[in-house]
Amino acid sequence: MVSRTIPVDAFDLVIFGGTGDLARRKILPSLFHRFCAGQMPEGARIIGAARSDFDADDYRKNISEALHEFGDAEKADKADLKAFLDQLDYVKIDALGEDGWETLASKLGRGVIQAFYFSVGPSLFEGLAERLHKYGMAGEQTRIVVEKPFGRDLASARELNRALALHFDEKQIYRIDHYLGKETVQNLMAVRFGNMLFEPLWNSQYIDHIQITVAETVGVAGRGEYYDRAGAMRDMVQNHLMQLLCLIAMEPPAKFEPDAVRDEKLKVIRALEPVAPDEIVRGQYEGTDTQPSYVEHAGDKSSKTESFVAIKAHISNWRWAGTPFYLRTGKRLKHRASEIAVVFKDTPHSIFGEEAGRHRNILTIRLQPNEGIELGVTIKEPGPGGMRLIDVPLDMSFADALGDGATDVVDAYERLIMDVIRGNQTLFMRDDEVEAAWAWADPIINAFVDAGDTPLPYDSGSAGPSDALMLMHQDGRRWREIRK
Ligand code: BG6
Repeated sequence: MVSRTIPVDAFDLVIFGGTGDLARRKILPSLFHRFCAGQMPEGARIIGAARSDFDADDYRKNISEALHEFGDAEKADKADLKAFLDQLDYVKIDALGEDGWETLASKLGRGVIQAFYFSVGPSLFEGLAERLHKYGMAGEQTRIVVEKPFGRDLASARELNRALALHFDEKQIYRIDHYLGKETVQNLMAVRFGNMLFEPLWNSQYIDHIQITVAETVGVAGRGEYYDRAGAMRDMVQNHLMQLLCLIAMEPPAKFEPDAVRDEKLKVIRALEPVAPDEIVRGQYEGTDTQPSYVEHAGDKSSKTESFVAIKAHISNWRWAGTPFYLRTGKRLKHRASEIAVVFKDTPHSIFGEEAGRHRNILTIRLQPNEGIELGVTIKEPGPGGMRLIDVPLDMSFADALGDGATDVVDAYERLIMDVIRGNQTLFMRDDEVEAAWAWADPIINAFVDAGDTPLPYDSGSAGPSDALMLMHQDGRRWREIRK
């Protein structure tokens, strides 16, 4: 079963980098899924634009293979697959030259939404924006979608924003952070702002600390060159973890509307304090008998890039002063498991006496896998023999609660691409937000680069370097176990 759908308006979607990895793995499979869900109008067209010497049929063949490998093509109706492929077209284009641009312009429909997905490196963004303008494709109905990394520091992000703003209004620019498209991430907002239960307690008076974990089992094989220039800080923290932190920490926006939400997120980022050197732990995975190490994947034996990072972050405002946010993310860890844990304070006094035991309430939002929300509550251990307290989960796994199929998770990209067509920017980052996130991350990155710090080694399949545990132990706290 695919999710409930409302068809969108007719559109032309041009994918620059249309034969690239992201297009084949995510963008086209997502569009196909939406097509099968009946969300793509008949007149919709998807035009791949890249350097390869393809014609439309070659492109359809290429994408058909991608849909078999990464999408639902095996399960899908053959007629659906053919109908979807028939909506594809291709233009050979020179992103930084003049070849192909007139052909592209001539293929676009009039009076329909035109979206251009920049699924290419940021060095091409400016050239693409310029040519869209020059060849008459930067009209009011135009939207551009730009992928991360959006720059590699504040200066380069500013420069990109400036270059795009020469030809497009901010309302036409959709900066993707696919974490915002994840089902549970949006559920986080539903839980916070759709229930009376949590919000009165959602502050430093009642919350001891918050943990945000994004653990991955994959390494950086195949993308070592990109990753080694980025590291976990640029690849994950400045964007994905920052967005999760914002949604947890922001004030209730007046409306679930783009600027209302983004204004509140921006205030959170601006209230983040600088991170001190003893509030960050960086790690790099080692190899095993059968698996290469980080430096082998990166192709640089002396690489000092981190594949793991743990940070203690502070938000200086009335709501959060005194409640730390512990963030950690890494590659080649024990399990693929991402969650946010909101750890409440102890009750002020135990009427049962300390021997009965004490447990804290923990609200856990599981992003992946097994999406769901769990609230740990204290109850009496059943049976005679006095009052002993135990901790039991009130568990709402979406699959259990909503029934089979209801949680066939719509990929983040499906939702986000459809939002572009609908013209809804709520789940996209605004220029000032991206810049503020870099303004926080830059000094952290510069500090360890300038100091020549070497990341700590950690075993593949572990929970990261042991110093990351210390980051919490020294505060009398501990990380939650990384569980499947
Ligand atoms: C990407 C990062 O943005 O997100 C990758 O570049 C990372 O390094 C990926 O693996 C994680 O996304 P997800 O959706 O698998 O958690």
